[in-house]
Amino acid sequence: MLTRDLLLATIGLATIVLAMTSGSASTPPTAGDGETALPEPETTGGMALSEAIATRRSVRAFRKTLLTPAQVGSICWSAQGITDSAEGRRAAPSAGALYPMTVYVVDADGVFEYRPKKHALRRVRAGDVRADLRAAALDQSCVDAAPTCLVVAMTVKRSARKYGTWGERYCLIEAGHIAQNALLQATALGLGGVPVGAFDDDRVAAILGLPDGCEPVYMLPLGVPARG
Ligand SMILES: Cc1cc2nc3c(=O)[nH]c(=O)nc-3n(C[C@H](O)[C@H](O)[C@H](O)COP(=O)(O)O)c2cc1C
Repeated sequence: MLTRDLLLATIGLATIVLAMTSGSASTPPTAGDGETALPEPETTGGMALSEAIATRRSVRAFRKTLLTPAQVGSICWSAQGITDSAEGRRAAPSAGALYPMTVYVVDADGVFEYRPKKHALRRVRAGDVRADLRAAALDQSCVDAAPTCLVVAMTVKRSARKYGTWGERYCLIEAGHIAQNALLQATALGLGGVPVGAFDDDRVAAILGLPDGCEPVYMLPLGVPARG
């Protein structure tokens, strides 16, 4: 992983821009079991794909406006939502349909795991950890300036069981599919975000309380762009 970390740090550090401080919670109140159903995503209409591709740009400064549950739901669905319930297939491709990736949503309310089958968020940690995430990401201000930050994580052993040493490679490729889907959906919804790859894996895993063997790959701070 060292080579990847160095590469990501180089890419990220070249482009850091100072941003505003963040707003407060954007996820709805949780149910008794700590799970919150998300609104069903719109799967027709909206911005044309070509327009989203043409207008997507990395955004690192955000307004304090919170994401709505519908926006959080659409972005999570684009990242890992079920698009074929008969086969259990998801929005982003996965080698062997093994789905070794997990998406976490971080906001002022806490840390939430996206559960694709239920299209719901399960709270895994209470409290606002965005400042800690920022510190673990080379103090990049975009991380806690955004009202919501997605974290894409991989459980390599799920893929390695079938693909051996290629498992990690496939997980990293899948993280790219997931992140691009999420960023294009954010763009289509009038939001912005930036893929952040420069961070300390172990610190981020500890902050989020990730299970053993689950490693963070990408952060996606998201919000309403401060400009434009
Ligand atoms: C693998 C990867 C890691 C990145 N890491 C960071 C990062 O840590 N911090 C950051 O501000 N931008 C990061 N970026 C965003 C790039 O700087 C950005 O995509 C690039 O400047 C091109 O601009 P655009 O996204 O607006 O097209 C990363 C991009 C990629 C693909």
